[in-house]
Amino acid sequence: MSESPKIPSPAALLKEQAIAAMNHSYSPYSKKSVGAAIHLSNGKIFTGCNIENSSFGGTVCAERVAVWKAVSELGGDIQITDVYVATEASPPWSPCGLCRQVINEFVAKECKVVLINKTGEELSFTHQELLPQAFDRSALEI
Ligand code: THU
Repeated sequence: MSESPKIPSPAALLKEQAIAAMNHSYSPYSKKSVGAAIHLSNGKIFTGCNIENSSFGGTVCAERVAVWKAVSELGGDIQITDVYVATEASPPWSPCGLCRQVINEFVAKECKVVLINKTGEELSFTHQELLPQAFDRSALEI
């Protein structure tokens, strides 16, 4: 009997895609490649890489690129269930404050944030752990 093909688990797929996204990083200034993969409650995955600019304030992080790609394709009614961030760093980098805030806007209730690198290190947090007491739309009474 032939073996059925192995379907990669969402976690394995997200890891693979976050690492693959590092290949598109445009980072001539920091020379640090960052890749991100986000998983949505509808099962879709979006990726992003950091894109730097000679006017440094124009630089954008990998995580925000992934979120913006998702919103621009699907609209704002999305829920992010998992975020994978890949760097070469040890320990692996975690999302900057601005990215945490942007993720928060579209976050699912129990969102995981997993920090990885190519050598197999992996640190796992909840979004809530990384951004406690978040500012959100409830403050604006919306
Ligand atoms: N960077 C990210 O892509 N994500 C983060 O959360 C932290 C920082 C990028 C921005 C810049 O291109 C480089 O890493 C150094 O800050």
